[in-house]
Amino acid sequence: MTTDPSFSTIALSAPRSGIRAIVEASANFSDVAHLEVGEPGFQTPEHIVEAAAQALRDGWTKYSPAVGVPGLRERIVEKLKRVNRIHAGADQVLVTVGAAEGLYVSFTTICNPGDEVLIPDPGWSNFATMVHLAHSKPVGYSLSGENDFLPSIEELESLVTARTKAILINSPSNPIGRVIPEAHLRELLEFANRHDLWVISDECYDEITFGVPSVSPAALGITDKIISVFSFSKTYAMTGWRIGYIVVPKSTAPTFARMHEPLISSVSSVAQAAAIAALDGPQDCIREMRDEYARRRDLCLSILAEHGRSAACVPDSAFYLWLDTGIPDVHSGDIALELLREVSVAVAPGTAFGANGDQFLRISFAADTAVIKTGLGRVLDYLSSSPSSLPHIARHR
Ligand SMILES: Cc1ncc(COP(=O)(O)O)c(C=O)c1O
Repeated sequence: MTTDPSFSTIALSAPRSGIRAIVEASANFSDVAHLEVGEPGFQTPEHIVEAAAQALRDGWTKYSPAVGVPGLRERIVEKLKRVNRIHAGADQVLVTVGAAEGLYVSFTTICNPGDEVLIPDPGWSNFATMVHLAHSKPVGYSLSGENDFLPSIEELESLVTARTKAILINSPSNPIGRVIPEAHLRELLEFANRHDLWVISDECYDEITFGVPSVSPAALGITDKIISVFSFSKTYAMTGWRIGYIVVPKSTAPTFARMHEPLISSVSSVAQAAAIAALDGPQDCIREMRDEYARRRDLCLSILAEHGRSAACVPDSAFYLWLDTGIPDVHSGDIALELLREVSVAVAPGTAFGANGDQFLRISFAADTAVIKTGLGRVLDYLSSSPSSLPHIARHR
């Protein structure tokens, strides 16, 4: 770690996102097929954009209540009932700047310095960083082929210490695209109960599943210590609007709000108007995008099959393909850089998601079909070529 008395040790030791590094490096190359970013390849549906434009003209240009405008919180309550089978009151809902701020507020509200949080490895890279920003310690639990990419209760039991404060569950998941089946979820919640842990349930991809139901932990009634984290980003292709929400136990809501309000004052009013339009309007757009992601997933699987490969885990949700490089002695970060330099494809290296991701690449199939065909084809051709075609790379094993 660099030391510089001008800055906090937390800031100086915060890990840098391995995906950002690829995004930045890709700016120096032309004709890059971008498969690295977890962002819907669609525009926000027109009726949402129109409603937001109208809201601006109608004066939605001021601060709003810190916890979110009442009309939005009420609609979120309806959505939670309809989609997630969560029965919550509006006073349990906190509208946040994307799921990202919801997660940050969650960690900072429940963790004391030195506490530990169990997080998936591989898992979205910001989980670990945010736990770190909360002066706490991320402890990875593994998601691997050996356990069908599901958290192992046995391993979790071995990781719990007196400092463990929470377990983060991400279903449907990034980067694997795996839904945790209800029976397994029940076991996880019972584990959390046994150790009196908070459960932080990141459900950002709740409406992007392919033929399997995404079950919300908070709907199962096993534990009350649950923070459910949701987002408009992926469901409605609204990544740039920066809006999401968390749902917390009623008695704790004011404490979460206390951590959220000084940070952001309130979520952008126009984004809240857009979110209201998203929930009020036709929901067909979700199905249409989901069906398109399913087609793109199938396209990826058929390109893999043509190359004699298969996905490490066939994704049943989200828009990511978790691909084993088959090159165990080379770091995936080095492979990702080589793919950029040699064949102009940007992919996310598995290491960006934790140590267990080191032999993997995450390919986003949120990209357009043409980009997927070109990009994934280039990746697979490159990986199929002889390992001696990786001359610049130091082998680590
Ligand atoms: C698992 C997961 N959680 C949270 C987020 C952040 O979403 P938002 O745009 O709502 O902040 C992402 C974004 O990629 C994600 O993949």
